[in-house]
Amino acid sequence: MKKSVWPLLVIFFLAGGLTAILIGQVKLAPKTQDNSVEAISERWTESGHADQEAEAFIHWDEDDPAEIPANCAKCHSAYGYLDYLGEDGTEALMVDAAANIGSVVTCNVCHNPTAHEKEVAYFPSGAEVSIEGGSVNCAECHQGTRSGLNVESATQDLPEDEVNSDLGFINVHYKIGGAVRYGSEVTVGYEYPGQTYAGYFLHTENYQYCTDCHDPHALTIDAVECAACHPSVSDLADIWSVRSEGTPDYDGDGNTTEGVYGEIETLHEIMYAAIQQYATDVAGTSIIYAGSFPYWFNDTNGDGNADEDEINFGNQFTDWTPRLLKAAYNYHLVNEDPGGFMHNAPYLVQLMVDSIANLSEASPFAMGNLIRPD
Ligand code: HEC
Ligand code: HEC
Ligand code: HEC
Ligand code: HEC
Ligand code: HEC
Repeated sequence: MKKSVWPLLVIFFLAGGLTAILIGQVKLAPKTQDNSVEAISERWTESGHADQEAEAFIHWDEDDPAEIPANCAKCHSAYGYLDYLGEDGTEALMVDAAANIGSVVTCNVCHNPTAHEKEVAYFPSGAEVSIEGGSVNCAECHQGTRSGLNVESATQDLPEDEVNSDLGFINVHYKIGGAVRYGSEVTVGYEYPGQTYAGYFLHTENYQYCTDCHDPHALTIDAVECAACHPSVSDLADIWSVRSEGTPDYDGDGNTTEGVYGEIETLHEIMYAAIQQYATDVAGTSIIYAGSFPYWFNDTNGDGNADEDEINFGNQFTDWTPRLLKAAYNYHLVNEDPGGFMHNAPYLVQLMVDSIANLSEASPFAMGNLIRPD
């Protein structure tokens, strides 16, 4: 081969590589990790699924009787999930009875004939979604226990800005990444009338299912795999700064180089300020949010901060108006998906921008240049 052809070939391969990245068709090298049962068991043992001390598994231990109620057991116990699948010989797609305490998400939760053949996940909104491979089981537990439809029915026909003592905070529940991935297809958020919302966030054809990104046993993300398409990523700390070329400045702060995670974080802060302003101005009681149940409390000293002596069950916020309840539901939802920037950024941005705009109708808020993706 003549020397002068080389540069052309190099350009050809570079361009080809770039095009492949742009259309998201890069074939990833097969995972090279040790997949012996021993190695898998070790990875699983290190994961949250195997954590016998986790609140998610011991929450009912001191109850009388010490059992996990049927409506909680599907996700909080191996027995409950096997019951839900019908693997215990009872009717499928429902948990027939309270489950024994003392289990975690063991191997047989995901490795049994029904779980292996399962193709459809059923969500709290009633939506049914086909998901390929073992990821369908992930979505059954990481879907929350509520949907935007619960918020809609609780607030239906009530005057938007009147405090109503029948209203209580609606908690979507925890680690809801599976529902956020499917967005409007499963109506996990409270969706404002007249707007359209993003459904499934594909990400990219070859890297879209739960176990494409999460090791099914360790549950962790392997940043080395991201690097195949996002060259800026070399370790886990870098994933928060990934941003696509055309991503708009959603939060309107003028920074178009921060990761899409940063856009969501700032929008979430703006949303909190809008919620606090509305509560004080319209509901007549100042509100704060803290990371412990039931999440919303009275800001008794009115300083805007969640102070330790304010965060207690007896001081929970009760002066809900329908408008406030909707925004608070969406705010907490964003908080309950640490992977939201990756699972479905457009959907979360839409929920936040619409919540802020809706609050602003009753309590005008300086929204700046927030951008709502179509
Ligand atoms: C039977 C219900 C159930 C199934 C099925 C399930 N999970 Fe979980 N998952 C949980 C619970 C409960 C926790 C919280 C455990 C804890 O707090 O230690 C959790 C925790 C997690 C976490 C947090 C990380 C950690 O180590 O705590 C990730 C990530 C996760 N699951 C991903 C997945 C993926 C991916 C799948 C499918 C391969 C899956 N889950 C299937 C119930 C489930
Ligand atoms: C659709 C699955 C699902 C159902 C049904 C479900 N949960 Fe959970 N729950 C989860 C997941 C996933 C977590 C995340 C675990 C974590 O982060 O600790 C969780 C966490 C929790 C936690 C721990 C929160 C914390 O602070 O660590 C409690 C308590 C809890 N759930 C109570 C309940 C109760 C009570 C019910 C029944 C009324 C219930 N759950 C039903 C999936 C579910
Ligand atoms: C939360 C669900 C879940 C749990 C719990 C789980 N697995 Fe898996 N496992 C999967 C999925 C999904 C796959 C398929 C992996 C893929 O498609 O990349 C898999 C794959 C495997 C494989 C085949 C690996 C290969 O590629 O050759 C083995 C073996 C295995 N699991 C063993 C276990 C053992 C042993 C445990 C308990 C220590 C366990 N699994 C717990 C979901 C789970
Ligand atoms: C395109 C990659 C990708 C896909 C697909 C994906 N996730 Fe995630 N997920 C992430 C990233 C990145 C994070 C944030 C990093 C972290 O928390 O470890 C995350 C975080 C999570 C968390 C919270 C972990 C924690 O530490 O609290 C859960 C639970 C979760 N994902 C479940 C799922 C489920 C269930 C699916 C499938 C329905 C899914 N994910 C699909 C990339 C992905
Ligand atoms: C096979 C190629 C490929 C792999 C591997 C891949 N990505 Fe992506 N990623 C893409 C493409 C293509 C897009 C653009 C998709 C879009 O905007 O619709 C994207 C978009 C994203 C976005 C959204 C950025 C924005 O501005 O909205 C994030 C965040 C992201 N990827 C993170 C990750 C992380 C973290 C990993 C590793 C766990 C990963 N990606 C692995 C191809 C890939």
